[in-house]
Amino acid sequence: MTAAGGDEAELARLVRAHDRWRTRSVFNLLPSENAVSPTARRYLGSDLAGRYTLPLDTVWRGERIDNSYTGTRYADAIERLANDAAARLFHARHATVRPLSGHIAALSALVPLLPPQSRLLAIEPGEGGYDGYAAGFLPAMLGYSVRPLPARGVGHSVLEEDAVAAIQQERPNAVVLGQSFFLFPYPLRPIVEAAHAIDALVFYDASHVLGLVAGGEFQDPLGDGVDVVYGSTHKSFPGPQGGILLTQRDDLFGQLDPALVWRVFDNAHWNRIAGVGQTLLELERFAPEYARTTVANAQALARALRAKGWPIVAEERGYTRSHQIHLDPETLRRTMGIGTGTLARRLERQRLLIDLVGRIGTAEIARLGLRPEEMERLADLLERGRVGKPLVTREVAAWRAEHRSLRFL
Ligand SMILES: Cc1ncc(COP(=O)(O)O)c(C=O)c1O
Repeated sequence: MTAAGGDEAELARLVRAHDRWRTRSVFNLLPSENAVSPTARRYLGSDLAGRYTLPLDTVWRGERIDNSYTGTRYADAIERLANDAAARLFHARHATVRPLSGHIAALSALVPLLPPQSRLLAIEPGEGGYDGYAAGFLPAMLGYSVRPLPARGVGHSVLEEDAVAAIQQERPNAVVLGQSFFLFPYPLRPIVEAAHAIDALVFYDASHVLGLVAGGEFQDPLGDGVDVVYGSTHKSFPGPQGGILLTQRDDLFGQLDPALVWRVFDNAHWNRIAGVGQTLLELERFAPEYARTTVANAQALARALRAKGWPIVAEERGYTRSHQIHLDPETLRRTMGIGTGTLARRLERQRLLIDLVGRIGTAEIARLGLRPEEMERLADLLERGRVGKPLVTREVAAWRAEHRSLRFL
């Protein structure tokens, strides 16, 4: 066999092994990921994977053009269907699923609406904010300055008085809400009011909570007057990796939509758009129950782990209103003698995946069909995994085998 032939066989083996490992052997409690439906996965592997279409109504040399490719009649219809489904699900006047990921969705929203020198207010990574908004990343690339929007409440939550005071003091051009460590909804109406009073835009990065928002849980940022909502389509929103952009404002969408192509990206991956479209249609069937189950699972798991002595933050606020629960790393080290990274690696060997920075998520297990009354059993496995008891791996494997297919499908 040639080297290339050997590598092809090895690649096939690795992909098969990955699929078996992640879809059959482990429970995924990473809050950034989810299970994609078989239909959406099939669309990812369809012929669309290698095709172009110049997105609808692209502006080229100052004029709206239809398309410069042929063979696109189905691809264009697929995109239209996905965008319409997104607009319906989120009660948005305008929606596009063209952005390639949550980070690219942030770029897609910021670049057209905020020129260089703009001043942002965003939550710092040390307070649960997304690293991309830290000064050295998106702001450095786009020529923005960024000041902290305080998240000093329990579990890095934003308090109304802090946010309004920061807006009035810093007078930013835009307030960027949303966190990677995201437990509690924001007091949106007073934030929006304070921002609009100084002509600042309000962006809401819903990357983590998009699937909950779809189901009417957590909060309704568009309904509360946020100017642009955007985020990933693969965290609590259970779709393929991708991004979405939503707004009620005709004037903003008029600036955003034509600016996506050639400023932030060129082609938008229509196989992914078909997969995201499928997920949007699935959510139209079950989003409220899925979102409710996800949050109820998070609250029940937090309670069960806390009862076993795990230092879960925000007990006084009921732990969480999202799909995430958080470990307090210092208390974990002090009381259990282990860091969050070592704990995650130890549990990984027991086929239980949490992240290395102390977050545990319940979106994927809800999609698989686990219910709040089963969180005691899961907490028991996590606790026995933590202390390295035998048989945990075998029990996880047996339980996982009962959940080969998705309940929310
Ligand atoms: C709040 C937030 N925004 C954006 C992103 C980037 O998302 P993506 O990986 O889809 O580009 C993340 C990633 O975890 C995030 O937590």
